[in-house]
Amino acid sequence: MSEKSQLITELESLQQQAEKELAGLNNEDALQKWHTQYLGRSAMVMQIFKRLAEASKEERPLIGQFANQVKDALETQLSQKLETVKQSALQANLKSEQLDVTLPGRKPPRGRLHIQTTVLREIIHIFAEMGFQVFRTTEVESDEFNFELLNIPAYHPARDLWDTFYTTKEGVILRTHTSPGQVRSMRTFHPDPIRVILPGMCYRYEQMDASHEIQFNQVEVLVVGKDITFANMKGTLEEFARRMYGKDVRTRIRPSYFPFTEPSGEMDVECFVCGGEGCSVCSGKGWLEILGCGMVHPVVLKNGGYDPEVYSGFAAGLGIERISMLRYRIDDIRNFWGNDLRFLEQF
Ligand code: FA5
Repeated sequence: MSEKSQLITELESLQQQAEKELAGLNNEDALQKWHTQYLGRSAMVMQIFKRLAEASKEERPLIGQFANQVKDALETQLSQKLETVKQSALQANLKSEQLDVTLPGRKPPRGRLHIQTTVLREIIHIFAEMGFQVFRTTEVESDEFNFELLNIPAYHPARDLWDTFYTTKEGVILRTHTSPGQVRSMRTFHPDPIRVILPGMCYRYEQMDASHEIQFNQVEVLVVGKDITFANMKGTLEEFARRMYGKDVRTRIRPSYFPFTEPSGEMDVECFVCGGEGCSVCSGKGWLEILGCGMVHPVVLKNGGYDPEVYSGFAAGLGIERISMLRYRIDDIRNFWGNDLRFLEQF
């Protein structure tokens, strides 16, 4: 067999094999591999060109021509096949992702207000109906306003009542309660009478449990004027509880201690779980504490710019999460900021 016919026979069988394989391929990856195998740099068709030197001078152009024909034929078949594969992939896509333009669009899921926002708004609404206005103050506070001006000097053991988050800046802390807003609002309004509420987030370095969080909302209530009495405070807070929990709600005010009020008290609402019998939620007491309160201490009135001989006032600090817990029978405060949608979507 001459060199010419041997090379040509090799080319012919190579072409046959390549065409047979190509017919069975049906995706772009496989076609890419096929291209490398039969038409790539080191593919056999290409090797033939290198082997032309083995053939005689007369035969070389013929073999070269034939090799080019085979190469062109395979390239043409490849591009046709590529087109077919692309088309059928497109058809399959169109079939599986049919678009019916007559169908209504998909609605994006609707967000909702966080339960605490709703409850806070409700509380603001109740107090607004009683003639209070909202006064907003800062969450990052100074030691001076959070403690000193509220009659809690650095050495005072009462500081232990509020486990504080300090910042790296001397004298700057996260407020542990909304009470610093008392002095801020007094300094803003004096010598006029005041009837404000101060809602907002407070922070305490607490051991967390079912009723203690490290961040929680409070609403401070502050009334300052002439002839403001303890009876005014009791009436206001009881009316708030009635509007919040219903007119039959049972409340009580117990004596307590706060350095910035004198006398001081705490208001409890009858436990929603046991109805006053005593259970684990209320630690067997039958009552749940929702706020601290009292008559504004003369030192604080003075720090706010009011003469305690002429003016008096009352203040209260409501714990909003605890108020929601009572209202919606939630037995663990950690749910509020746990970001579990199963909890949040119930409200
Ligand atoms: C105070 O914070 C006083 N500033 C309240 C006050 C204001 C008294 C004005 C007198 C006059 P106390 O630490 O008790 O007080 O907190 C008030 C309310 O905040 C509590 O009744 C409770 O409902 C809520 N609270 C306190 N600590 C937490 C906590 N770790 N997690 C959730 N709620 C809390």
